[in-house]
Amino acid sequence: MSVTLADCSAMDARDTLAHARARFSIPADVIYLDGNSLGALPKSAPARVADVTEREWGEDLIRSWNKNDWIGMPARLGARIAPLIGAAPDEVTVADSTSVNLFKLAAAAIGMQKLRRVILTERANFPTDLYVLQGLEALLGGAVALRMVERDALETALDRDVALLALTHTDFKSGAIHDMRALTTAAHKAGALALWDLSHSAGAMDLHLDADEVDLAIGCGYKYLNGGPGAPSYIHVARKHHDAIRQPLSGWMGHAAPFDFGEHYRPAEGMTRMLCGTPAVLSMVALEEGLKTFDGIDMGAVRTKSKALGDLFLALLDMRCGQFGFEIACSRASTHRGSQVSFRHRHGYAIMQALIGQGVIGDFRAPDVLRFGFAPLYTRYADIWLALERLAAIMEAGTWREDRFQVRAAVT
Ligand SMILES: Cc1ncc(COP(=O)(O)O)c(C=O)c1O
Repeated sequence: MSVTLADCSAMDARDTLAHARARFSIPADVIYLDGNSLGALPKSAPARVADVTEREWGEDLIRSWNKNDWIGMPARLGARIAPLIGAAPDEVTVADSTSVNLFKLAAAAIGMQKLRRVILTERANFPTDLYVLQGLEALLGGAVALRMVERDALETALDRDVALLALTHTDFKSGAIHDMRALTTAAHKAGALALWDLSHSAGAMDLHLDADEVDLAIGCGYKYLNGGPGAPSYIHVARKHHDAIRQPLSGWMGHAAPFDFGEHYRPAEGMTRMLCGTPAVLSMVALEEGLKTFDGIDMGAVRTKSKALGDLFLALLDMRCGQFGFEIACSRASTHRGSQVSFRHRHGYAIMQALIGQGVIGDFRAPDVLRFGFAPLYTRYADIWLALERLAAIMEAGTWREDRFQVRAAVT
């Protein structure tokens, strides 16, 4: 059975999230399937950033920390992220980058675990997660041992030495989703804490951190949360750990009374102690506008649409591109797949460049993976149809063979 553009347009007409696309500025000639790398621009962001720059910074100057509540931004944005990940507003704050927040939480978890010293993760975790954990291991000498295992060996590797299970919920390449509840429960049974990197999950699906009894979490602000390039990251700590947790980057913004300027560090109550230095106000403001794009949005509906977009992509890939030697690199079962599809081709880089040349933006992950992400707030079913039409045309004509598509840029 074939699927036509008219069928896809009819799906868009029935889509209960279709109205949210008007919250974004997306160039008319672009089909954007890379919201898992950098979310699209919220329409409200430029004016808000300009206002904060010109009025709050330009006119109110230093008074803005109080007058315009710049100082409250980490907690205020955290409270906006909380419902998207199934946490309470006082369990989330916003600061620093995901890499830095992982360092803070992993070190804090080791500190909370006394006799245990192993951090367990999977070999295919996102590289920055591996590198940060390796850095912590190097820093703490014998006090931490990183154990990297294959995905299917995680549960058996959860022995009584494991202090922390640190995983990324949705795999950046394959889009495979871990069972957060099952693995968190297994970690707890083994006496370990569970830390989840939600970078490829939050904003694309409903998450239930509190119900799943997750201890710690982090994630990117610039992907599905639409916070803009290099947007700050968020940190979640379950309330039951708030009193015990101590993080090593004990800067003044995490102090109980930063403006007392005392000699000794005393951690603030609650999530404030997870902060280190001064918030990046202009970036925070852009992220706040990104988070507003979720106002009134049902995350269950987001997940349902995300699965349908992925299923449609794979069905059309089979139909239109079955003969071109693509090897599916993601799960065909939408329940096991995040909001992306990926497939392999030996010439994946050049093919993606040729596709981008046709206005369809996805990305490439070495060595050979083509990756397409679906942001349910703005991706349309018709976008998927057009993307596959253009991919088929590129493959049929062999345009990807042109020299200009072979040149590797610094960022893929
Ligand atoms: C799972 C995951 N964690 C972390 C990061 C990046 O962290 P940072 O914002 O510190 O560069 C990424 C970036 O793509 C990611 O996919």
